[in-house]
Parts: sequence; structure tokens; C-alpha cells
Amino acid sequence: MSAFIVLGAQWGDEGKGKITDYLAKSADMVVRFQGGSNAGHTVEVGDKQYKLHLVPSGILYMDKINVIGNGVVLDPKALFEEIDYLKKLGVHISPKNLIISDRAQLIMPYHKVLDGIKERARGKKDIGTTGKGIGPCYTDKMERSGIRVCDLMHQDVFEGNLRENLKIKNDIITKVYGEKPLDFDSIYNEYVNYGKALAPYVRDVSVKVYENIKSGKKVLFEGAQGTLLDIDYGTYPYVTSSSTIAGGVCIGSGIGPTMIAGAVGVAKAYTTRVGKGPFPTELFDETGNWIRENGHEYGVTTGRARRCGWLDLVILKTSSRLSGLTSFAITKIDTLAGLEKVKICTGYKVNGKIIDYVPASLEDLAKCEPIYEEFQGWNKSIENARTYDELPEGAKKYLSRIEEFTNTKISIVSVGPGRDQTIDVSHI
Ligand code: GDP
Ligand code: IMO
Ligand code: MG
Repeated sequence: MSAFIVLGAQWGDEGKGKITDYLAKSADMVVRFQGGSNAGHTVEVGDKQYKLHLVPSGILYMDKINVIGNGVVLDPKALFEEIDYLKKLGVHISPKNLIISDRAQLIMPYHKVLDGIKERARGKKDIGTTGKGIGPCYTDKMERSGIRVCDLMHQDVFEGNLRENLKIKNDIITKVYGEKPLDFDSIYNEYVNYGKALAPYVRDVSVKVYENIKSGKKVLFEGAQGTLLDIDYGTYPYVTSSSTIAGGVCIGSGIGPTMIAGAVGVAKAYTTRVGKGPFPTELFDETGNWIRENGHEYGVTTGRARRCGWLDLVILKTSSRLSGLTSFAITKIDTLAGLEKVKICTGYKVNGKIIDYVPASLEDLAKCEPIYEEFQGWNKSIENARTYDELPEGAKKYLSRIEEFTNTKISIVSVGPGRDQTIDVSHI
């Protein structure tokens, strides 16, 4: 079996794009199975940087097939802007190396409008979404009123769907929130054009993914967001609206669990979070600011400053359990270089007890006090290390503790953003 999952083990932005690109070298296909243009995946090759949102991170190789699966919520405007951006950077994109599921849900202009309106209406309780229409689009999917890519392939079906949807959405926008309605004709014309442009890319991609795995080709599933942003297991309601854990792969790409050989959890050597919600190991001091500046912790999609804190092994252990991780890829260990001491959280103290899992209730999570272990720091030369043996002692001890506590081995250590700044510890 040759299908592997690459997913975020924390709150997103762990370096999934970098790791997927690295692993894609020996893969045939890269599949996105959830999320949408809320994702921002960065890949650096040589002196070029690529920021990907909807296009899978296998696109920088000429010979890989990149798949947007049925579980993705597709914003056609964002997709075509991204394709243009990538073409300007010299990336080749055609229906030969990018295919899109006919079952994927479409993000419509009213989804983006409602995302913004609902956030404003939440006031101080806002989630801090990316504003890309993700929540409202998944809401329609589950409510069974969503418009899918296949509907756009039939203009009359699309027209009817849009009319029905827009009437209800405009009622909500105007009557509930007192904002301006959206115009049918301009959305219809815009989307009919997208439909024509999308058509060559569209097919039942689950058949292709299935056939590739069956014939022994290597398929990578590229997760977006991260474990603690999962709709069921994340810090609800401060989460995204899709299944970011390994279970999401099957429903979001149309294959069965017995076809998957393993799952790599990507985790930063520290923790970051963008948007609102609890974060037990968050640092509000100079060290937190230092990590943010040293690690350039600013969002790819929204440019927001990311909140920074110590590595939380309770989260990594939880992620390993929820997704059956076969290994971790630890990124940005170079960012911590220069700190005299570094800390790792190995448990939460709550009501006099010590726990090593993330409680469901935010009230309980708020009471959790992190328990820390302290490690000697390491120096800058780490970014030039290309073998495990070249890593400084302090970093090796830090990595060993991650493996020991989570009972999950580390297969990759990343020491910089570049494709070559990667240490393959053991094959996944
Ligand atoms: P993703 O959403 O999980 O793909 O991660 P992002 O691209 O949003 O954020 C990760 C950032 O860290 C990007 O700017 C990457 O180029 C960068 N990055 C990835 N791995 C490393 C690493 O090992 N060291 C450093 N310094 N940067 C890294
Ligand atoms: P990648 O794939 C980090 C966060 C938002 C917000 C919450 C809900 O680059 O790791 P949404 O727009 O999805 O309804 O926002 O989820 N969020 C991310 N945080 N990385 C991401 O993607 C994220 N995608 C969404 O900041 O807190
Ligand atoms: Mg990101």
C-alpha cells in the first residue's frame, strides 16, 4: 500500500506545505481532502517562495497529479487567481496535472459575505476566521442546500440552485443583519464563466485516486489546518468547519481506510495559533515576541501575527492518537536556536490532578496549567545540519523527548524553509 497522509498536529501552519513538497518528490499524486482557501501553505525551492491556498503542494514538480478532492470547499475566484499567480512564477498548470472533484462544494460570494457578517455579529466572541466563507459553505453542505462543482457544469441546474439559495441568503443578509442584498445576475454571469474555465479540470477524482493506489503508485494526502482546529476534536467553537484529522481523508477523497498505509503529523518545534481560542502554553512575554520575529510568524492567508508559545506534547500525543500517526515531521527547530533554555509542556494540572489529554470543555481547558520540562538550548548552526548526527546535543535530547512522550517516532526534522533543509530520519 502506498498512500500516506500529511496533516497538521497543532493549530495549523506547522509546515505542511514544506513537508508535502519534500515527500512529493517520490510520490505520483498529491490530494487535498478538506478545507479551502483558508489554508496558506508555503513552499520554498532555491530562492523562490510559493504560497499555496487551494492548489496541492505537489504542483511544483512537473510530473505529479494534483487533486482537489470532494471534501474541499472550492472558491473558483481564489483558484483562478492562484493559478495565475503560480503561472507568473513559472509553474506549469493544466488539466494534466490538476484535477478537481465534481462533488466539491462551491464557495459562493454570499458565503464570504456571511462569514464576515457573522463574525461581526459575534462581537467579542468572534472566532477570528480567515473570512474566506469556509464555515457558511460547509453549513450549506450539511444542510443539503450547497451548490457543487457538478451543478456548475449544467447551467440550468446552476441557475435554479443559485436562485433558491440567493433568495434565502439575501433574506438573512437584509432582514436579520440589515445589510445590502447581493445581485443575482452578476453572480450568475461570473460563475457561468468559472464553470466554463473549470470544466476541463473536473471529473470524479475518487476513481483516479483509487486506481493510483491500487496500481501501487504513491499518493500523498495533504491536510489543511491542524488537529486542534478539527470540527469534532479541536477547541470548539474556535475551530474550522472540516475534519482535519486522518479520518477526514476517506470522506474527503472517496477512498477506504484500508487503503492508507500511514500518517505523518507535522508539528512545529514550538506552538503557534492564529485567530481566537484557548492556548495553554501561549507566551505573553519577550520570549513569545522573540519566537514570533525569529520564526516570521505572520499568517500566509491573512497576514495576521501568530500567537506563539512553548511546544505542547499533550497536543502532539492527542494528535497522534486521533490520527493514528505513524510518525512526526518536526519543523522549525532552527527557529528556537539561540535561546538559552527551551521548555516543553508534558501535562496539564487541573483541579489537583495531572492529565495528558485535551479536555472537551473550554471551561476545563481554561483551568489547565501547563507542566513544563526545561531543556538546554542550541545554536544557529542547526540550519546547516543535513543528517541527524549533525544536530546539536540539545536539539537531539529535545527530539528524543517528543518521541518518548508521544510514543511516536520522528521521520523528518526540518531545519529551515528550503526544500533541502530537511533531514530524513527514517522512511515513513
Ligand atoms: P502550513 O500551513 O502548515 O503549510 O505552514 P505555513 O506555510 O503557513 O507556515 C510555515 C512557515 O514556516 C512557512 O513560512 C515556511 O516556509 C516556514 N518553514 C517550514 N519549515 C520550516 C523550518 O523548518 N524552519 C523555518 N525557519 N521555517 C520553516
Ligand atoms: P493552514 O492549512 C492556521 C483558523 C482561523 C480561525 C479558525 C476558523 O495554513 O495550516 P476558518 O476561516 O477556517 O473558518 O477559520 O481556523 N485557521 C487556520 N489557522 N492555519 C490554517 O490553515 C488555518 N485555516 C483556518 O485563523 O481561528
Ligand atoms: Mg499555513
